[in-house]
Amino acid sequence: KGSAEGSASGKVILFGEHAVVYGSPAIAAGLDRGARAVVTRLPGGPSTLKLGDGSVVADASSSNDLGRAFAALLEVAPAIPPVRVEARCDLPPGGGLGSSAALAVSIARAAETLVRGDEARPEEDAAIEARVLARAAAWERIFHGNPSGIDATAAARGGIFRFTRAEGARPITPRQDLVLCVGSTGHPSSTRTTVELIASQHTKDPALVKRSIDAVTSIVGNAVLAIEAGDQRALGDLMNMNQLVLSGLFVSTSEIEELCALARSAGALGAKLTGGGGGGCVIALVPPSFRSDGTRDEEREAESAARILDAWRSAEGH
Ligand code: MEV
Repeated sequence: KGSAEGSASGKVILFGEHAVVYGSPAIAAGLDRGARAVVTRLPGGPSTLKLGDGSVVADASSSNDLGRAFAALLEVAPAIPPVRVEARCDLPPGGGLGSSAALAVSIARAAETLVRGDEARPEEDAAIEARVLARAAAWERIFHGNPSGIDATAAARGGIFRFTRAEGARPITPRQDLVLCVGSTGHPSSTRTTVELIASQHTKDPALVKRSIDAVTSIVGNAVLAIEAGDQRALGDLMNMNQLVLSGLFVSTSEIEELCALARSAGALGAKLTGGGGGGCVIALVPPSFRSDGTRDEEREAESAARILDAWRSAEGH
């Protein structure tokens, strides 16, 4: 076959961004929205990359970040022969929702499928997924410098999971569904910049950064328990605490703080930035509602979510 497809999810980080780079655990969840790629064989190189409806934005010999990331992804052994890639992503770039990792995983998956055709045996699946993650990591290193791998893991597997650099993903089974609102500051931000900001603080004052990382480690440990126990009030408090630690690390902004405050006054149980910070998106936990028979009242929850979204919309005007 001359072409193959691949897809991947976007993500929100519920807890533990940045600390995860230093080996702490974090919790992420996949989104339904994500990226899709089609990869077609070319008779000769260089490989080309087209994003969205646009024209070719890079080829594997370009010296810009996108071209270098694309080349790095294709070059992970065994190297992918010359291909044309058309990819699209329905996540805002620089929004902290994993657009870059979702693109990388969808391209890597499509390329792996193209190369191995229909010959792959089921026992090869784990090896292929590991290679997809290695290709995504090579791409992410160009954009992020020192990615923990949580974004690519969320893009590849979806669902809700705890992640560490050493152990990878471990699924979490929530006792109750979590309903989250995602709001954008409208300012794209670079994860590389915020990761480097914390790295330079770490060089100057390692003890200070370590205290924040230790705080996040215990917040994440408690958050896993709260998700498994269905204690959403505790979970909201933990989100607020995580946000405090992140602002202490200077990766929050006045817009992020405002969106979090608006969400909390509109009834959210907790709110925090998600992803790299410095702009991008915030998440807010919608309080669960129950009918008298104990089942979830989704209509009332949608109204609660609408109050949070309205509060964010009304703040856009000034
Ligand atoms: C970005 O979504 C999450 C960070 O922790 C960076 C990373 O883990 O690679 C900020």
